[in-house]
Formats: sequence, structure tokens, C-alpha cells
Amino acid sequence: MHADLEELVSPTKGLFVTFEGGEGAGKSTQMRLLADSLSGRGYDVLTTREPGGSLGAEAVRHVLLSGAAESFGVRMEAILFAAARSDHVEEVIRPALQQGRIVLCDRFMDSSRVYQGVTGNLEPGFVETLERVAVNGVVPDRTIIFDLPAEAGLERARRRSLNVDPDRFEKEQLETHEKRREAFLDIAEADPERCRVVDATLPPEVIAAEVLRLVEALLPGDGEPQSSRVEAAS
Ligand SMILES: Nc1ncnc2c1ncn2[C@@H]1O[C@H](COP(=O)(O)OP(=O)(O)OP(=O)(O)O)[C@@H](O)[C@H]1O
Ligand SMILES: [Mg+2]
Repeated sequence: MHADLEELVSPTKGLFVTFEGGEGAGKSTQMRLLADSLSGRGYDVLTTREPGGSLGAEAVRHVLLSGAAESFGVRMEAILFAAARSDHVEEVIRPALQQGRIVLCDRFMDSSRVYQGVTGNLEPGFVETLERVAVNGVVPDRTIIFDLPAEAGLERARRRSLNVDPDRFEKEQLETHEKRREAFLDIAEADPERCRVVDATLPPEVIAAEVLRLVEALLPGDGEPQSSRVEAAS
């Protein structure tokens, strides 16, 4: 049923890649590096992030990351994440994919599965329903999961933001972060077609080469730059 729905509403053009994993794993760093190398090859790349990425979703991002919604409970937070994701998908991601662009997104539905579902202890059915409504068929073609011991990730995140207070999610216990690491690995194992795991302890340039390799096979036109495809067509 889910697969049929995806076939009906999934954009047929473009490529959707998501970057997932715990705090400080290198998602944002690697998304930038991949965007640079793909743009350098002539691809039309859009980078975006969650929560946020669209006007409506950025408004909700502040409510979520400041912790303003925390006291209302994890269900409320999960619904807000879903509301933000829905706006992001419909206003930004789907239109870009329909135009044939490559969309790189820093966190997406797997973060909700892990943060609200697993470590938020929400019932799987509730999380699945929210996900279905929010993504509305726009499922990533490839998800790269950055795997790093929780302690190392937290240390990196701390060093990066020495003078900034930790956000609502960074404040949580190390044990919770380890649980999330396992949950991301479980997702990868359950969906090997979509997901790839990379060792995030490696040097950034080594990871970047691996990330490019993992995306390369899926590039529109088998890696042929879009600009030349457009020229060839006209
Ligand atoms: N492979 C790496 N080895 C060592 N340090 C790294 C590596 N990749 C990124 N870093 C550093 O670790 C910190 C966190 O990286 P980055 O912001 O990319 O992680 P993130 O997964 O986006 O984190 P967050 O979830 O907090 O947004 C940065 O200071 C970055 O320079
Ligand atoms: Mg980041």
C-alpha cells in the first residue's frame, strides 16, 4: 500500500538525499562538501535542513529547539515536527525535485523516528502515521547515516559551540545519545536499499569521497552534468 502511494506521488525527476545521525556526527559538514562537488560538476543542487527549510517550518524550528514545546510533551513535539516537515516537503522539497534538482537535506524523517519514536517512547503507529502524512510520498532516494560514538559526537558539538548554550536535544544524557546511535543503525539495517552507513570517525575528506561514491550511482543522467543534458536537448 505504501509503495503504491509512493509510486503515485513521488517525483520522477531529481534526486533526494538525506543526512542523518547524532549530534556532531558531521552531517552539516558533509552535506556542504557534497553540495560543492555536485555543483562543481554542473548539477543544480538545493541544500536544506530540518527542522526548518521553509518559511512555516523555520517558525516551528524555533519553538522546537528552544524547548518551548518540551513541557507540552513528546506527542506535541512530534506533531510539530510533522507540521514543519509537511510544509518543508510541499513548499520546498517536492517542487525542487519536480524541477529535476538534487535536494540535500540535513536531517529528515529518520530523525523523527529516532528522537521522538525511539528515545521519545512514542508508539510506533503514531510515529508512522505522522511520517506518512508529513512526507506524503517524498521519501529519500538515499539516506546517509553518519555513525559516531555518542561521546565523540557530543564533544565535537561542544567544541563547535563553545559559547552557545546547548539546545533542547543536546542537553540530554549520554545514554540517550547511544540509544539513538543504535536506532539509526537499526533503520539502516531495516532499509538497506535506501540507507548507507558511514564511519564518521574518519577524516572529513575520506568521508566526503565515500559520500560522493554512495550518491554517484543515483545521479540523474548517470553522472552526466545537467547543464550538458540541457544543452544537448536544445
Ligand atoms: N570527520 C570529522 N572528523 C573530525 N571532526 C569533524 C569531522 N566532521 C566534522 N567535524 C567537526 O565536528 C563538528 C560537528 O560537525 P557538524 O556540524 O558537521 O556535525 P552535525 O552532524 O551537523 O552536528 P549537529 O547535529 O550538531 O548539527 C564541527 O566542528 C566539525 O568541524
Ligand atoms: Mg548540523
